[in-house]
Amino acid sequence: EKIHNTIFENSSDGSAVVAKEIADLIQQKQANNEKCVLGLATGSSPIRVYRELVRMHNEEGLSFSNVISFNLDEYLPMEKENKQSYHFFMHEHLFDHIDIDPKNVHIPNGTVSGEAIIEHCLDYEKKIKAAGGIDFQLLGIGRTGHVGFNEPGSHHNSATRVITLDHITRVDAAPAFLGINNVPRRAITMGIATVMSARRIVLLGWGSNKAPIIKKTVEGDISSQVPATYLQEHRNCTFVLDTGAASEL
Ligand code: GLP
Repeated sequence: EKIHNTIFENSSDGSAVVAKEIADLIQQKQANNEKCVLGLATGSSPIRVYRELVRMHNEEGLSFSNVISFNLDEYLPMEKENKQSYHFFMHEHLFDHIDIDPKNVHIPNGTVSGEAIIEHCLDYEKKIKAAGGIDFQLLGIGRTGHVGFNEPGSHHNSATRVITLDHITRVDAAPAFLGINNVPRRAITMGIATVMSARRIVLLGWGSNKAPIIKKTVEGDISSQVPATYLQEHRNCTFVLDTGAASEL
C-alpha cells in the first residue's frame, strides 16, 4: 500500500480538514449509539487540530460524550502535574475544554516504577482491546522517524512498553525542559503493532524541518531504522502535510 498524501498551503488548513474528519467520525458513531475510540498524540503538530475541535465543541455543539481516548506515550519518570508531562499537555490543549468523560481518558502513567511498569503496559493494551480497538489514530513524527516514542530499532510487532529515548529526540525536547539533562531518558509508548491496529491513521507533518524524515518515511524502504516507514503497510493511512514538510517529495 502506498501512503496517501494530502498537501496543504499551511498547517491551519490541514488541521481544519483533520479536525473535521474526527468530528464527523464522532458524530457518525453518536448517530449509531456507538463509542468512538481516538488515539491521540502530543507535540506541536496536533495543537491546531485540538484547537479546532475545541472550537467545534464551543460553537457547533460537537460533543465528546461518546469518545474514549488513548494517548500514545508519556515520559518516564514523569509526574502528571509537571508542565512537561503529556498528561498536562492533553488537559491544557483539549480535555479541559470539552465534555469528554474523565473515565474515558487514558494516558500512559509516567509515575509507575519497577515491575509495575510491565503490568501497566499490558493493562494499557487490554484497555484498548476492551474498548474495541482504535477507530482513528492521530500521529506526529519525530526527526528520528519515531511515531509515539517508537524509536529506531522498534519491531513491527511491538506493543505498549518502555523505550529508551534516542539522543536526537532528547535534543529536540531539551528547550521545553530547559536543558537536555532534564529530559527523561525513557518513556512509555504504544507499540508499532498498537498503532498499526488502528482502523484509520492520520500523520501530521508541518514545516521544512520535517521534510527529510517525511521523504524517508514515504519513499524509503520499510525499515525498523525509520519506524514510521511501517505505516506504508497500513491500508488506511494518510499523511497530512504542509508545503514545507512535503518539499522533498
Ligand atoms: C514527541 C512525541 C511524538 C511527536 C514528536 C514530534 O517526541 N512523542 O509523538 O510526534 O515529538 O513533535 P512535534 O509535533 O512537536 O514536531
